[in-house]
Amino acid sequence: MEKRRPLIAGNWKMYKTNDKAVETAGKLSGLVSDIADVDIMIAPPFTALAPVSEAVKGGPIKVGGQDLFWKEEGAFTGEVSTAMLLSAGCQYVIIGHSERRQYFGESDKTVNKKIRAAIDTGLIPVMCVGESEKERDGKETFSVLDKQVGNGLKDFLLDDLDNLVIAYEPVWAIGTGKTATTEQAQEVHLFLRSFIEKNFGNVLAQSIRILYGGSVKPDNILELMNMPDIDGALVGGASLEAETFAKIVRFQK
Ligand code: 13P
Repeated sequence: MEKRRPLIAGNWKMYKTNDKAVETAGKLSGLVSDIADVDIMIAPPFTALAPVSEAVKGGPIKVGGQDLFWKEEGAFTGEVSTAMLLSAGCQYVIIGHSERRQYFGESDKTVNKKIRAAIDTGLIPVMCVGESEKERDGKETFSVLDKQVGNGLKDFLLDDLDNLVIAYEPVWAIGTGKTATTEQAQEVHLFLRSFIEKNFGNVLAQSIRILYGGSVKPDNILELMNMPDIDGALVGGASLEAETFAKIVRFQK
């Protein structure tokens, strides 16, 4: 069976003012303009979405939001809707990142509502899951992931999930320089794929893309991509610099 089409995504988190964001996006756009066999996404901060979308227009780079709120509109100060993301040029949205869970009260329940809102409006959701160091040490990795994915996808039907992307980001590997070994990552990716198979069937299990995130660098991308169940990466720190991220997109050191 052929592997799924890779997706390499850059999560810029709370970095870059608009001038810097446009500069990096423009540079990256030039560096990857010939790439046709890998999907590429960058998720700048909300404030930079529209100018970054403009800067990458016509090239292979797609743009994503880092979060959304599930209501269509209303008195929700500080929040951003799917229509707003779409009008700023987004095709993707990251949902349930561990930093949102850790610092901003995101729960499996809110993740579930956000995925629903993304799917209903045609945005591709990148659902993040992952265990903490304590949970891994306590041998709870699989039970934690089972709960996160199970609750996050509660009440969805197979037909809803065609475009869903899952990102496995072990919390202990984010921004720490500690990467899960490729074997550790592969083991979890296989577990997640089996979860999808058990709950939604083999066709979706074979087509769904499962990204790895946590200290991905040019040095480790190829080894990760060589694993049978790793379909791409969600890159934080190493996506902030155009040259470095372009190497990751090419699976090059
Ligand atoms: P780092 O690549 O900086 O470890 O961050 C990973 C991440 O959180 C991407 O969403």
